[in-house]
Amino acid sequence: MLKSTTGKPTMSPKTVVITGCSSGIGLALAVKLAKDQLKRFKVIATMRDLGKKKQLEDAARETLDNMLEIKELDVCSEDSICKCVNSIPGQKVDILVSNAGMGLIGPVECQSLDTMKMVFDTNFFGLTRLVKEILPDMKRRQKGHIVVMSSVMGIHGLLFNDVYAASKFAVEGFCESLAIQALKFNINISLIEPGPVITEFEAKLYEEAAKMDLSSTDEETAKMFRQLYLPYSKKVFHTLGQTAEDVAEHTVKVITAEKPPFRYQTNSLYTPLTTLKFADPTGNLHLDTYYKMIFQHDRIFNASLSLIKFLRGRSGNQPGRKHS
Ligand SMILES: NC(=O)c1ccc[n+]([C@@H]2O[C@H](COP(=O)([O-])OP(=O)(O)OC[C@H]3O[C@@H](n4cnc5c(N)ncnc54)[C@H](OP(=O)(O)O)[C@@H]3O)[C@@H](O)[C@H]2O)c1
Repeated sequence: MLKSTTGKPTMSPKTVVITGCSSGIGLALAVKLAKDQLKRFKVIATMRDLGKKKQLEDAARETLDNMLEIKELDVCSEDSICKCVNSIPGQKVDILVSNAGMGLIGPVECQSLDTMKMVFDTNFFGLTRLVKEILPDMKRRQKGHIVVMSSVMGIHGLLFNDVYAASKFAVEGFCESLAIQALKFNINISLIEPGPVITEFEAKLYEEAAKMDLSSTDEETAKMFRQLYLPYSKKVFHTLGQTAEDVAEHTVKVITAEKPPFRYQTNSLYTPLTTLKFADPTGNLHLDTYYKMIFQHDRIFNASLSLIKFLRGRSGNQPGRKHS
């Protein structure tokens, strides 16, 4: 349980820059922070394409230009990041939420190196560009919090998510190293590690998967991807999946914590799976469990998912349910 610093409003609101606010978690978090009852946050909600700002404007209407401002920021462009930060009074960012990201699924032999580089450029180098721009000022002020949207796939790998998981592992290695230095300057770094979240992220992945040319792989792998992985993945998303609002709520807890955790998993249903990684340093427990779950005991796994779905339905804790 995180002890929060809530209770009294701060004199001046903290400036929070969030990337990737055109949809999903970034949008939900921007709205939640901007609507904070205690008005503790001034939110700079950024997106690379301002043509997509309507959904955020509609959701945050009463806070616009007061507690929330929408600005352009492409995490793949140093110029764009610099321009955005320079437009903030005193270039003072109290909290950075590095959220923008993209997924990639499929057999690795069917993915181009350009696509793989784009995933790293967004998920990993996007974070490093932001940190290079914002950390020096936080160090000067001896104050700040960098919150990074990682994933359970920053902890363990998953079938057909090779490059995406690698990009999140890179994020975790970078943050774990930097966090030690940051502490010396009184700056916290926190990794948020959601399991599946039902956002456009998932829809985009399946759209890409449907178009994917599988001719560069063998028949068995192509079949494994289309007939085993995709239906499994959809079932996992819809059984264990959280809403963007859920993840935003957890992220607010981390942002307002008296002592922010370095790692924070948002989905307790997923924790038994991530624990396998920490329980056995050889890595075999994780590999064996996933191998057996997918290729040998898939009926039991499917039945367990159906049971979880049923129980969540009965308790009203259904994935996709929005919080008010
Ligand atoms: N959904 C999940 O299951 C899940 C699970 C664990 C972790 N995560 C992580 O959560 C984060 C948010 O994902 P989400 O689920 O909210 O997905 P989403 O709805 O697809 O949102 C991703 C956001 O990132 C933005 N983005 C992509 N490339 C960008 C760039 N170069 N510069 C600036 N913004 C860029 C997208 O903007 P455009 O609209 O312009 O593309 C969009 O606003 C990601 O880091 C993702 O890896 C997601």
